[in-house]
Amino acid sequence: MTTLLGISGSLRKASTNTQLIRAAANIFDADEYIAADINFPLYNGDLEDAEGMPAAVQKLSDQIAAADAVIIATPEYNKAISGVLKNALDWISRTKGNPWAGKPVAIMSAAAGRAGGERAQFSLRLAMMAFRPDILQGPEVLVANSGQEFDDGKLKSERYNKQLTELMGALNARI
Ligand SMILES: Cc1cc2nc3c(=O)[nH]c(=O)nc-3n(C[C@H](O)[C@H](O)[C@H](O)COP(=O)(O)O)c2cc1C
Repeated sequence: MTTLLGISGSLRKASTNTQLIRAAANIFDADEYIAADINFPLYNGDLEDAEGMPAAVQKLSDQIAAADAVIIATPEYNKAISGVLKNALDWISRTKGNPWAGKPVAIMSAAAGRAGGERAQFSLRLAMMAFRPDILQGPEVLVANSGQEFDDGKLKSERYNKQLTELMGALNARI
């Protein structure tokens, strides 16, 4: 039984990254798909000291450890990943062990700009380097002008669907 975990770096309901991650999960077609909840408090060492690890953070850490593969879609905020996603990565790094070690991970982005979040993907690779996941090198899925690219949760463009299918095939081959 394969379990796929999807993490969207945007919390808003109509997020194009959440739509992208769902489209990727549909293509991957795992036995079980889990959509991560990264609506965590802002990391604050005082909070951690006073209350310990938030249950939602520990839950995600356990989900990462248990997943056969993880997909992450990041928006681009001022040429980098969203604060929400960085905050989640920082919290996860505070849990015991390293759930990311050797984990097959595919990253993708959806952004309003013409580059489709290319710089955000680079910054995501950098942000995750310390955790030593097995991040696929490509094909790169960079959905530009993302507000116009989805229809009823489906990616309209054949080109993006093809890239996403290739990326999910490569991820499947890693597990
Ligand atoms: C604070 C902020 C910074 C942004 N910076 C960029 C940027 O550098 N490049 C870009 O292509 N889009 C940028 N955008 C637009 C986002 O790409 C757009 O809001 C996108 O839809 C966010 O992803 P979502 O649909 O998953 O929420 C920015 C948006 C916000 C709110």
